[in-house]
Amino acid sequence: MHRSAHRAPLPMPDPSAAEHSARLAEHVRAAIGRAGGRLPFDHYMALALYEPGLGYYSAGQRRFGPAGDFTTAPLISELFARTLAQQVAQILAALDGGVVLELGAGTGHMAADLLSELERLERLPERYLILEVSAALREEQAQTIARSAPALRSRVEWLDRLPQTPLRGAVLANEVIDALPVKRFQITPKGLQEQVVTLAEDVTLTWALAPAGSELGAAVANIEAELGRRLPSGYVSEWCPQLTPWIASLAGVMEAGVALFIDYGYPRAEYYHPQRHMGTLLCHYRNRVHDDPLVLLGLQDITAFVDFTLAAQAGIEAGLEVLGFTTQAHFLIGAGLPRLLEAETVHAPEQAIHLTQQAKALLFPGQMGERYKVLALGRGIPMPLSGFSWIDFSNRMGCRQRATTY
Ligand SMILES: C[S@@+](CC[C@H](N)C(=O)[O-])C[C@H]1O[C@@H](n2cnc3c(N)ncnc32)[C@H](O)[C@@H]1O
Repeated sequence: MHRSAHRAPLPMPDPSAAEHSARLAEHVRAAIGRAGGRLPFDHYMALALYEPGLGYYSAGQRRFGPAGDFTTAPLISELFARTLAQQVAQILAALDGGVVLELGAGTGHMAADLLSELERLERLPERYLILEVSAALREEQAQTIARSAPALRSRVEWLDRLPQTPLRGAVLANEVIDALPVKRFQITPKGLQEQVVTLAEDVTLTWALAPAGSELGAAVANIEAELGRRLPSGYVSEWCPQLTPWIASLAGVMEAGVALFIDYGYPRAEYYHPQRHMGTLLCHYRNRVHDDPLVLLGLQDITAFVDFTLAAQAGIEAGLEVLGFTTQAHFLIGAGLPRLLEAETVHAPEQAIHLTQQAKALLFPGQMGERYKVLALGRGIPMPLSGFSWIDFSNRMGCRQRATTY
């Protein structure tokens, strides 16, 4: 089971969840009023997910795992974090030390498993930094790490913002870019318009169209120029305005090292493919997937697929190199998952079936193997990364330039 587990009727929230949702809805209605009657979708998504104390990631409910709304790779199997640790160990060895910075650490399971594996490999980072926007999740991460890797807890440090001193090491972001707020646009007979959120009869959240601002206009013009075709009338899609500045600020603090972004998404030509004319926005609620972000406010995750060409381009513009781009399956195989699985099944044969099933969920194309991709951006790394040794698709990203150092 993972994200997009199944499309099925949505269960009703219990009374306390419904009351929580109503409080956030009141807050959103007030924000719509203050903004003159309509909110750009990215502003709405930021409130729905991150409004302190009320937003989906900021409030205290259970979000991850079978009893929550969706399951991410670190919760499917510790093989995921342990394989990632092999790649991190290679990076730390090349830099002769350094730190790990994890962005958006969720429940903290990936941090705990990764640190334990790095200890086994005798490649512990000087510090394991976590930058997490949700206070509730920081708390959960601290508890998970204290429970699962108590001896390593003292190496972990939570940051309020990116480090102020130059960073050498590995940066990890699993399913974080998909959680950055996006703008929604539609190509109409009148041209490009922005989909915004407004109120019907002063109460019910509903969609409206508004003239696209200059920033969105330039972004869509750039997308069409790079695709070499116009998006057809009726086409709906998303664009993430925060992604380029977010990667630029990360690049600004990275003295040497590699940032690995793991997420569901596509290179641009596939992202804005004519067949994907309804966009990529998805909502997850109690392991059901649907596409209405205006319901279950504060109780469901809202997410969009990642335009990996935009992410790579942002890195290149900020002076980083694209060090690899591949599917999650190819990355995990290249970084050593089969070796780990084999060693584990020799060591604990009674676990073999269970572990093999977990590995299948991470690797199989119908599950997470193909839809999830891994992008590596970095600088000052003198050798190819093991995770991209199997297959590297970075020449298919359609980036304007690609530099390699080896
Ligand atoms: C879908 S969850 C993924 C969590 C975890 N990485 C995993 O794989 O289970 C997204 C995470 O990113 C965090 N997040 C969202 N925007 C962020 C940002 N700008 N900086 C750091 N963390 C962010 C969320 O609070 C949450 O922890």
